[in-house]
Amino acid sequence: MVTGENLRIDGDRLWDSLMEMARIGPGIAGGNNRQTLTDEDAEARALFKTWCDEAGLSMGVDQMGTMFMTRPGTDPDALPVYVGSHLDTQPTGGKYDGVLGVLGALEAVRSMNDLGIKTKHPIVVTNWANEEGARFAPAMLASAVFAGVLTQDHAYSRTDLDGKTYGDELKRIGWKGDEEVGTRKMHAYYELHIEQGPILEAEGKDIGVVTHCQGLWWLEFTLTGREAHTGSTPMDMRVNAGLAMARILEMVQEVAMAAQPGAVGGVGQMQFSPNSRNVLPGKVVFTVDIRSPDQAKLDGMRAEIESRAAAICADIGVGCAIDPVGHFDPVTFAPELVGNVRKAAEELGYSHMNLISGAGHDACWAAQVAPATMVMCPCVNGISHNEAEEISREWARAGAEVLFRAVLETAEIVE
Ligand code: GLV
Ligand code: MN
Ligand code: MN
Repeated sequence: MVTGENLRIDGDRLWDSLMEMARIGPGIAGGNNRQTLTDEDAEARALFKTWCDEAGLSMGVDQMGTMFMTRPGTDPDALPVYVGSHLDTQPTGGKYDGVLGVLGALEAVRSMNDLGIKTKHPIVVTNWANEEGARFAPAMLASAVFAGVLTQDHAYSRTDLDGKTYGDELKRIGWKGDEEVGTRKMHAYYELHIEQGPILEAEGKDIGVVTHCQGLWWLEFTLTGREAHTGSTPMDMRVNAGLAMARILEMVQEVAMAAQPGAVGGVGQMQFSPNSRNVLPGKVVFTVDIRSPDQAKLDGMRAEIESRAAAICADIGVGCAIDPVGHFDPVTFAPELVGNVRKAAEELGYSHMNLISGAGHDACWAAQVAPATMVMCPCVNGISHNEAEEISREWARAGAEVLFRAVLETAEIVE
């Protein structure tokens, strides 16, 4: 008989799976480089599938490469509860960003099997393709297509730095499924994730009850100057795209600081062309990433950055094109599901607090098509998108256990 007391997961089994997955696509400093649609991604998918087969799950794969692993429910008419995250990583990523959410969902299902729990609603453990957006912008690409926000053609045409397309790479690794994207209907969506920020650890809390996610714009700038010799070109004859970029970087910092509290802005990727020590760059491409939970503030920052960038470029004589390659509005998660997460943490005796997610997640797009929410656990010093990303076995267990209970609440245990 299933009682509240024995609704526990196997934290050691979860940890062992996390460590085994981390062996695929090792980084150079203890983390992972398992970028989307690489051979390493394919290897991770195969391992995950093996584990899902062992847990008795059946697989569906959609045309974006997202994996849906189903544990049947008892009611043929009941829509599934989806639980997932992503197995792809940043180029210098950690072992837990995304992976904890996928393997935590798998652990929840394994524990249901151990305990002989049947649920009314099916449960679908989900590995979304290209959450990170490191190789193909934007982030959360497959869930955006699933939610109908981006088209599959647009997604397939996205290119990496070598000019390879999403569509070609998906076929190459053998994970283009046949399911039409977005035709599945969800009863609810849950996602477990590490916080990727310092708040839970600083506050000494085990669990973040995620009520909102901040919105984002990724603005890809292409600045066009004139390639010229760095030694023989007089200062007043230069059309230096690199100088314009430097001024824009400083300006983005000013705009984000002026919008405090509750706003961030920065640049994580830039390409100089031709990138030679003694050639002034003729072309510079970089992406500004701005975020805020406040819609008006987010859009105001974008407008100010675009107009000030235009003035900076005009002053230097540099051409300026801006392509908004990634966007989502701030998200409010479903109160009923948020309540289930809080209740689960309380029943299990874990300390908890409300959180606004600073990072984007597939849950943000799932929230467009179903009630959705997230569970967060702390990470050491708030470090993420860094190979040094670390969590404790206890934090992982607590997060997965809260996920397990909240999912059961929604999927409804059948006695
Ligand atoms: C996704 O990982 C993001 O928040 O950039
Ligand atoms: Mn993630
Ligand atoms: Mn990430």
